[in-house]
Amino acid sequence: MILNDRVILVTGASSGLGRHAARALATAGATTVLLGRNESRLDGVYDEIVSAGHPQPVILPFDLAQADDSRFEALAVTLTQALGRLDGILHSASQFIKLSKLSQQRLNHWEKAFTTNLFAPFALTRACLPLLEAAPDGAVLFTAEQHGLSPDVYWGGFGLSQASLIALARLFAQEHRDDSDLRFNVLIPGPVASPMRHRTHPGEVPECLPNISSLMPHYQYWLGPDSRGRSGEIIQIESDYDPSRKA
Ligand SMILES: NC(=O)c1ccc[n+]([C@@H]2O[C@H](COP(=O)([O-])OP(=O)(O)OC[C@H]3O[C@@H](n4cnc5c(N)ncnc54)[C@H](OP(=O)(O)O)[C@@H]3O)[C@@H](O)[C@H]2O)c1
Repeated sequence: MILNDRVILVTGASSGLGRHAARALATAGATTVLLGRNESRLDGVYDEIVSAGHPQPVILPFDLAQADDSRFEALAVTLTQALGRLDGILHSASQFIKLSKLSQQRLNHWEKAFTTNLFAPFALTRACLPLLEAAPDGAVLFTAEQHGLSPDVYWGGFGLSQASLIALARLFAQEHRDDSDLRFNVLIPGPVASPMRHRTHPGEVPECLPNISSLMPHYQYWLGPDSRGRSGEIIQIESDYDPSRKA
């Protein structure tokens, strides 16, 4: 139970990687704060965690795309009043833009992607800094996509929002390099079946993709005590998935 007594906020906890990671963090003893827009799906994650006998989570319905600084600051106050501490944030919420050439993308698509994928992780992390700095072993883990490392044709605004997120994480790490009790890292998961993966790679057979649970030890490690002292890293999870393989 390496995460006993820790409070970890998970964005995108209603689906895909965030949902599984919230369960994996709770399994390791963390009290999780489940953030997403879809309350019934958040309720489902809550029920799964409680029925498995793990620490009771907190459900936090919140639209990252609609928030301003004052709402993020109010969120941090709520966490302080409800739980009294925050030891980690897993940023897993994400807004996808349909793959297309730049000539077909519009500013409103970019605004949605940049608001959820970059502005919100910045503003949420910033608002929670006092809590994270007070934690004995704070950890912030950003989730990015491979095309954030190497923006490519058709990935347009989505790829660039991911590239900016990676740069943001590096900046947070650099600005806190003298704080050995707080770290900022980026996880780039390998491909796994999720609603997002279905949108980015619609032709794939989900059964051929690696099991999402294979990634969970990484989340437990990067948000847990064993990664203490490691900050500013971009962690790419290797995968032996072969897209040409058929079910
Ligand atoms: N799946 C993969 O194979 C894979 C591989 C590499 C990288 N990644 C990256 O991992 C991250 C998560 O992917 P995923 O597959 O878990 O995606 P997903 O299943 O589509 O989940 C996305 C989550 O984001 C939340 N979200 C979106 N907009 C939001 C908003 N405005 N406010 C609050 N929550 C919001 C959604 O919750 P609500 O709908 O409840 O708001 C949902 O829980 C993405 O950055 C993705 O690029 C995934």
